[in-house]
Amino acid sequence: MQADFWHAKWEKNQIGFHEAETNPNLTENFHHLGLETGARILVPLCGKSLDMVWLMSQGYQVVGVELSELAVLQFFEEQDIPFEKTVDGDFIHYSTEGLELYVGDFFKMNADVLGQVDAVYDRAALVALPEEMRKNYTQHLSKISNTAPQLLATFEYDQSKRNGPPFSVSEEEVRLRYAEKFEINLLEVKELGEMFVDGLLVSEKVWYLKGKG
Ligand SMILES: C[S@@+](CC[C@H](N)C(=O)[O-])C[C@H]1O[C@@H](n2cnc3c(N)ncnc32)[C@H](O)[C@@H]1O
Repeated sequence: MQADFWHAKWEKNQIGFHEAETNPNLTENFHHLGLETGARILVPLCGKSLDMVWLMSQGYQVVGVELSELAVLQFFEEQDIPFEKTVDGDFIHYSTEGLELYVGDFFKMNADVLGQVDAVYDRAALVALPEEMRKNYTQHLSKISNTAPQLLATFEYDQSKRNGPPFSVSEEEVRLRYAEKFEINLLEVKELGEMFVDGLLVSEKVWYLKGKG
């Protein structure tokens, strides 16, 4: 998925992935990460997700990375939050109390710019990317977050019946990408029934990845 694909999605407001409510996988499972109030949570490929608002409301600091400046501007406008804007290397940095959003290419982010990461919340980030990008994504994420614990949600369905995004990411692939550096815990399996196209059965899995240190 190239940058143009996502910019066009935001410009045409084709953002079916954006949810009007906080995602229950987050609210039901975030406690597994056992974080202290004030911990800094990385939300890769964050869009304008309301999950960031929930994380802030729970006393966490949030740092998001998003390609589309439009998405970030919509986030601040819709949440009616004032912000400061600066330029930081390859990124435009939007910040407010408890929240920093970097506009730019996630693959260009590095640990120095990003700063401390205590945990990662991946909803619709890994599954937004085609298979040929997922190896780079997971390696890069593990590196810049210093294998911080992660809450991850994946979809599984018959990929031959539909093209992503979101892409199907199998249990085997989660283990292939992350087992070297993380202990992998499957928290939940949800049968979502038919989704995306007629007759396509989709399930969702929620994972807690704990860095081996
Ligand atoms: C499927 S959406 C999910 C957004 C958000 N996580 C949510 O739950 O609503 C994927 C997002 O990733 C962004 N994106 C795609 N490639 C990116 C990249 N290389 N760097 C930063 N953001 C990217 C897109 O602009 C889009 O907003």
